[in-house]
Amino acid sequence: MAEKRDRWDSRAGFVLAAIGSAVGLGNVWRFPYICYKNGGGAFLIPYFVALLTAGIPLLILEYALGHKMQAGAPKSFSMISKKSEYVGWWAVFAGFSIVTYYAVIMAWCFAYLIYSLKLTWGTDAEHFFINTFLQRSSGPGELGFIRWPVLLGLAATWISILLIIHKGVKSVGKVVLVTVPLPVLLLIIMVIRGVTLPGAVEGLRYYLTPNFEALTDPNVWLAAYGQIFFTLTIGFGVMIAYASYLPKRSDISNNAFITGLVNCGTSFLAGFAVFSTLGYLAHVTGKGVEEVVSSGLSLAFITYPTMIRLLPFAAPIFGIIFFLMLLTLGIDSAFSLVEAAVAAGQDRWKVSRKAINLFTCGIAFVLGLIFCTKAGLYWLDIVDHFINNFGLVLIGLFECLAIGYVFGAKKMRDYINSVSEIKLGPWWDWLIRVIVPIILVITVVMSTVNLLRVPYENYPQWALLIGGWGVALLILALALLANRRWLPLSILLCVVCLVVLGTLTSGAVAMAVFGCLVLYGGLLLCLRRTLRKRDIDEWED
Ligand code: PHE
Repeated sequence: MAEKRDRWDSRAGFVLAAIGSAVGLGNVWRFPYICYKNGGGAFLIPYFVALLTAGIPLLILEYALGHKMQAGAPKSFSMISKKSEYVGWWAVFAGFSIVTYYAVIMAWCFAYLIYSLKLTWGTDAEHFFINTFLQRSSGPGELGFIRWPVLLGLAATWISILLIIHKGVKSVGKVVLVTVPLPVLLLIIMVIRGVTLPGAVEGLRYYLTPNFEALTDPNVWLAAYGQIFFTLTIGFGVMIAYASYLPKRSDISNNAFITGLVNCGTSFLAGFAVFSTLGYLAHVTGKGVEEVVSSGLSLAFITYPTMIRLLPFAAPIFGIIFFLMLLTLGIDSAFSLVEAAVAAGQDRWKVSRKAINLFTCGIAFVLGLIFCTKAGLYWLDIVDHFINNFGLVLIGLFECLAIGYVFGAKKMRDYINSVSEIKLGPWWDWLIRVIVPIILVITVVMSTVNLLRVPYENYPQWALLIGGWGVALLILALALLANRRWLPLSILLCVVCLVVLGTLTSGAVAMAVFGCLVLYGGLLLCLRRTLRKRDIDEWED
């Protein structure tokens, strides 16, 4: 390679960028709720176990892979074995599809930042969010027009992302000096405000009172592992890409410990902000905390706005602080996912960074338009649910197998130890080769069973088929295509055809088409091979 690879300006630049990627909206709106639901304070035990036995070891693996190969995810995997390149593409495409809607959530935050000035949502925040702001249609089939406030916010988000990644890690390294500490500072202000409100103690009791019995429930452990994979942004090629811009002699394992601990520390802190204010909301409205508790979008855009309006003084200021915090929390996760795609593109095509930046952001913007329509909320919910359930867990599994068995866990560990401040023992090999894959397989099986058993949120089957299974399988198909892996691709497409036909027509038609595809399609493939010139030459000899 003639061209010199970009480099982080400093170790802090890299570590902050990785922390920025890991610390996102999930830390505020997912962790506190999961903790409350799964045993309160007792949940910290499985959570820490998951962090140490799966989160940090996988983070070390991704850092090590990017650092050793000095390339984005697809090329890094192809350097282990040409056949495994698709794992990298899979990760990148999964991350890319997430950022198409993650940016739309950022757009909502932009709008709400402005609404905070006058507390525009009024007394009924739910009605405002659903009916006035999103003007949600009656179902995913009724797209309706694009909501222009969302579109404006989306444009603002993508322009910000373009400007931030303009010069790659050189500019990213500077931006994270602001976008990582600032939300933490704002979070601390929210915690101080929260715990000084009446009812806060009651809220915190809900968050942290341990229920040790919960530890005997396997689902609680599963929730802990699920949350750890999600929160560290593992399995999207981000950490591989970021580590590939590290100079040859730089630490790996200590950086992974720092990233993991700061990320989980932020989640823990966010719980204080969220539950103290939930306690206040319950106190003011005369309800129980369990009645006002919520997570995800409804926590950010309904529960919090409701609470902010009820604050005794300076309510608009706290509105601004809250939404500015969400924006700065989310933006560095969003551009990290874009960076993973850009790094992959740069390895593959010799085009300028500017062109790839524009191309990636442009496509993501256009794809995001669907989430700006009046049915956007439905589609966002469906896509989000499926990708997060499948993407990262399956990709994490393949990563472990590729490094653990094809490349060799011991070989990678020796490499890590040769540069790192914390030396890893053989325990790491065990985790990567055996323990983590077993946990990941259990997680995948459990979530697939769940997805199949009950239609998610009672959405119509066709919508789940397109936005859920369709998108998840399309990502895998595109990854196989990028790696020119025809056999698995054909098998995948056959299964997809079968499922689609089976749902839309009768079982008999589906089986007829399936039989034709396998038998005659297979026959065609074999016949094609007989026509290869080499074979004919050999026969003539
Ligand atoms: N890990 C971050 C979070 O918890 C951001 C993120 C979410 C990144 C989902 C990728 C996928 O919000």
